[in-house]
Amino acid sequence: MNRYDADILSGIMQQQNFTPSSSIDHSNYIFVHTCSIRQHAEDRVLNRLTALSAIKKKRPGLKIILTGCLAQHKGQELLRHYPMLDLVCGPDEYRRMPDYLSRLDQSGFSPVHTQLNEDDYGDCLAYQNRSNGNAFISIMRGCNNFCSYCIVPYVRGRERSRDPQFILNEIRALDPERFKEITLLGQNVNSYRYQSTDFPDLLEMIQNETSIDRVRFMTSHPKDLSNKLIDSFARLSCLCRHIHLPFQSGSDRILLSMNRGYTRDYFINLVGRIRDRIPGVSLSTDVIVGYPGETEEDFLQTLDLLSRMECEDAYMYKYSPREGTRSADLPESLTEEDKVIRLNRLIAHQLRISHQSLLRRIGQTMEVMVERRSKKDLSEWIGRSRENSMVAFPSDDLVPFQLVKVVVTDVIGKTLKARPVDQ
Ligand code: 5AD
Ligand code: SF4
Repeated sequence: MNRYDADILSGIMQQQNFTPSSSIDHSNYIFVHTCSIRQHAEDRVLNRLTALSAIKKKRPGLKIILTGCLAQHKGQELLRHYPMLDLVCGPDEYRRMPDYLSRLDQSGFSPVHTQLNEDDYGDCLAYQNRSNGNAFISIMRGCNNFCSYCIVPYVRGRERSRDPQFILNEIRALDPERFKEITLLGQNVNSYRYQSTDFPDLLEMIQNETSIDRVRFMTSHPKDLSNKLIDSFARLSCLCRHIHLPFQSGSDRILLSMNRGYTRDYFINLVGRIRDRIPGVSLSTDVIVGYPGETEEDFLQTLDLLSRMECEDAYMYKYSPREGTRSADLPESLTEEDKVIRLNRLIAHQLRISHQSLLRRIGQTMEVMVERRSKKDLSEWIGRSRENSMVAFPSDDLVPFQLVKVVVTDVIGKTLKARPVDQ
């Protein structure tokens, strides 16, 4: 999401004849694009700003601009700590960026712009600079869910869905040689709605009205994932059989405090429906450990839910209190050390589950989008399967982004080994 925002901003700037540069030495403007989802993301920005302060001392003419969620959340405060910042712009202010830059040296110009509004950048074409054959396409912005630990609704505003025609146009504008695949982005794609078009309708339009080969989407909120969406997988050949479905905690007590809007039983039932109706689907999830009040018993329930879900991949985080969210007022029950211990137990547990899930893929035929030659073994190519696994297989003459059928032969770490089907 945040990466896509940087590409939106880049698209806006390039339309005004600014050009991207790969070196700070040759740049007149530096954009520091920030995230504030966890403390770690924030700390990285602060380190970067300290380093940039030193560069700015040597080159006072350089303009440094802070953008993104941390700019929205703590812009004023950061400007006080880092007076070398020339401009602070929140996520809904990017259209005005060229205008703001032209006024930086005007007397009386305010350097902080963090107005949230209803803009969904619907008509903007992002600067698509990913080199792995996959383009990010935003279908909505903001979030209405207010999970009690999460800063997103405060820094990105209310949920708004993008006009499907703009989405279709952006997909059609992609270079077909460079992009065979898209990932549709939203904080909760399952609540996409534009007039009478819901998310499964949008997927159907993409299948029928564009020629993109492979479609992914994230993130799915379990409470809003409908049977209609599950049934779309049988009909729509463009859909990759992978669903990223964060459950966050396996304990009903913690789920309630997190304001997630579902129970453990509901989630188990949902996973069962998905697995029954989408054969071969691969699942991934997000989990938080050490949420305020999480007991050993709650944590064991999380381990158990991970076992039942049988994900091929999981993103696991230590709880990080975010100022201004509801859970930030709850007393933390664990020390930082205890959280690390639980996180390590969680990671070890998921590693075994991932390995078992991947072993079940041996013997299966998969379609891989080739990305590049393997760095370890030049006779091998690396690509991503529709199920979202990295796959390595031997072949001579391939070109990046080609779609190739392979048979899985082995699992090494998180990578599947395979051979091309016709060998
Ligand atoms: N602490 C830890 N993890 C968080 N996430 C969101 N907010 C927090 C927080 N305060 C995680 C959730 C979410 C993912 C994008 O980041 O697991 O799904
Ligand atoms: Fe945050 Fe919850 Fe919205 Fe996801 S659904 S962005 S976790 S508030």
